[in-house]
Amino acid sequence: MLKIAVMVSGGGTNLQAIIDAIDSGKITNTEISVVISNNKNAYALERAKNHNIEALCVSPKDYTTREEFNEALLKKVQSFDVDLVVLAGFLVAIPDAMVDAYENRIINIHPSLIPSFCGVGYYGLKVHEAALERGVKITGATVHFVDKGTDTGPIIAQQPVEVLENDTPKELQQRVMEQAEWIILPRAINDIANGKITVENHNVYRK
Ligand code: GRF
Repeated sequence: MLKIAVMVSGGGTNLQAIIDAIDSGKITNTEISVVISNNKNAYALERAKNHNIEALCVSPKDYTTREEFNEALLKKVQSFDVDLVVLAGFLVAIPDAMVDAYENRIINIHPSLIPSFCGVGYYGLKVHEAALERGVKITGATVHFVDKGTDTGPIIAQQPVEVLENDTPKELQQRVMEQAEWIILPRAINDIANGKITVENHNVYRK
């Protein structure tokens, strides 16, 4: 059984997709041990509580330094003894010590086809605003392992999504979530839970 911690900051639609996929059997051999947010008001925490999943907040506001927060965050995650950490709309940089502790065991969903529209400053709606500004015809989402860079870890899965004329950033974000994020993130978790994923020299192979 793969035990996962899901880390969230906002609405939690990707968390909901994971919960629903476990309930429907699209994800097997997996249980969500805890949902952790940096934002006590994140609706994602409500989604977890509604499903009787332990939900808690570790907020930078409760610590005097970023280092103290980083240490507390890592300790909290480690206390649940999980196998995989899933960043589902989590907007806090993962501390290097946590990347070291969970090498190739932290995955993230990013709302573009990496290496486009990613890196520092590219998150949430800003990603879609940049894609529309550039005039791309295809965008999408990427699931990747987390390393010490920003959106630079080995790519696990990607899903393209068509950009429609007159798309607003919100409309494009919603389509990318519906047609890509909510599909490839659960699928990646299921693949990892069932031993289908290996990483060699920064490349991911699916059995
Ligand atoms: C989504 O745009 C997702 O791509 C990004 O965070 C946003 C909110 O996700 N990772 P969620 O609804 O909180 O899962």
